[in-house]
Amino acid sequence: MEDKLTRMKSLAERVSACSACQLHLSRKKSVPGEGNIETRIMLIGEGPGMNENETGRPFVGQAGNFLNELLGAAKLKRSDVFITNVVKCRPPANRDPLPEELMACNQYLEEQIQLIDPLIIVTLGRYSMGRFFPLQRISSIHGQATWINDRYIVPMFHPAAALHQPNLRDIVLRDFAKIPQYLQEALAAAEKAVSEEADTDADASQSPTSSQDNGVQLSLF
Ligand code: URA
Ligand code: SF4
Repeated sequence: MEDKLTRMKSLAERVSACSACQLHLSRKKSVPGEGNIETRIMLIGEGPGMNENETGRPFVGQAGNFLNELLGAAKLKRSDVFITNVVKCRPPANRDPLPEELMACNQYLEEQIQLIDPLIIVTLGRYSMGRFFPLQRISSIHGQATWINDRYIVPMFHPAAALHQPNLRDIVLRDFAKIPQYLQEALAAAEKAVSEEADTDADASQSPTSSQDNGVQLSLF
């Protein structure tokens, strides 16, 4: 099997050649996402803006600087996490992505989630949140972690929205500061699941040494 890095590179190449929705017509550079592919924490934003379209990198403008500050509040650096968006090409004039664009691009995001298999997904903004919580409002669930399919999903206000509103700015900083605690909880839950699986394997085979999973250590990154 191809390794993770090879698969992530191949995904980026497919994205850069993609014409599955009309956003390919106006893009300069596609923005597949970047960061640590061995991470436990993945961040999903909305879509490339002007600077991202020029550089091919996610969150590099003003919102990106604020995101770096938010990561600092979570005691994280950019190199600790993987950052991507729900659409990989810039919507013209930063308009909202359309439903058909979100649908067309979802294949790549899904593949990235499977590949990285994070314990925590932080959603930034409503389109990213809507993928996991289609009927919720950010004002009622921001900063709260919900356990879905073996990971925590944590919706956050979008950094670009929070940047210029002092009240939101403080809220999103406080919400990011909860991430280390969520990570501890998620790691504990994952370790428990591994040891329960090991117990089940051992019971099934009547041999306590039969499980390859016994003693697996889950590291932070
Ligand atoms: N930059 C991104 O890459 N995504 C956003 O959602 C905003 C800015
Ligand atoms: Fe393809 Fe996504 Fe770009 Fe649309 S936004 S062209 S689906 S990579």
